[in-house]
Amino acid sequence: MDEALYAYPEADRPWVRTNFVCTVDGAAYDVTGVTGTLGGDIDSEVFQLLRRLADVIVVGAGTARIERYGPADVPIAVVSLSLEVPDRLRAPGQVVVTTEDADADGQAVLREAGVEVIAHGEVEIDWDAVLADFDARGWRKILCEGGPTLHGELLRRDLVDEVCLTVAPVVASGDAPRISHSRHAVHHGMTLGHAEAVGDVLLTRWVRDRS
Ligand SMILES: NC(=O)c1ccc[n+]([C@@H]2O[C@H](COP(=O)([O-])OP(=O)(O)OC[C@H]3O[C@@H](n4cnc5c(N)ncnc54)[C@H](OP(=O)(O)O)[C@@H]3O)[C@@H](O)[C@H]2O)c1
Repeated sequence: MDEALYAYPEADRPWVRTNFVCTVDGAAYDVTGVTGTLGGDIDSEVFQLLRRLADVIVVGAGTARIERYGPADVPIAVVSLSLEVPDRLRAPGQVVVTTEDADADGQAVLREAGVEVIAHGEVEIDWDAVLADFDARGWRKILCEGGPTLHGELLRRDLVDEVCLTVAPVVASGDAPRISHSRHAVHHGMTLGHAEAVGDVLLTRWVRDRS
């Protein structure tokens, strides 16, 4: 894998990259309900590389809970309205993104644990304000690791600048979701950044066409 393929572009604003793996038939997780080893070693390599390149990792609380997230070398920003954040991420240096009207006691408990609570918007997260907040912290290389619900919301708001997608050599059928879902369908053009086969695994990067 050529690491240069994943360099972030020079941008004068936060650049939102998402990273997913799916099966040949589009399932976002395997029969066990997690992404696990779907994409094999090469997908793990890409996953770790993208983490190293990022200023902050944004993840939906559902994924953080199911995939048992813990701290990484860069801050993990868990997106949650319920504030049900995994214990291992209730620690200094970690971040929770939520709304201003999220439970005040829950926010206070997180802050007492040293978590940076970034609260913008009421009822719904104000993503423009969140990205402006990230920008003010010098976080412009944003990596979103899902899950499909968070991805659907970011796509609805046309905030995703690129999608890194590994296609695993598996078909899954079943009822697993796609890598994004939302009640709001969109049609956003993408251009192909790269497609590289490593054995039977296909590594792709798709960039939002804003021309
Ligand atoms: N294929 C892949 O690459 C990949 C990547 C990631 C995850 N997954 C899989 O996806 C599944 C989880 O899917 P999911 O759709 O439930 O994941 P998710 O988006 O990570 O989790 C949904 C939860 O995250 C919070 N959330 C997400 N978007 C939000 C928003 N815009 N505003 C406020 N809160 C928001 C809410 O948490 P609260 O309930 O705390 O309010 C919501 O209940 C897991 O099985 C995981 O393994 C697959």
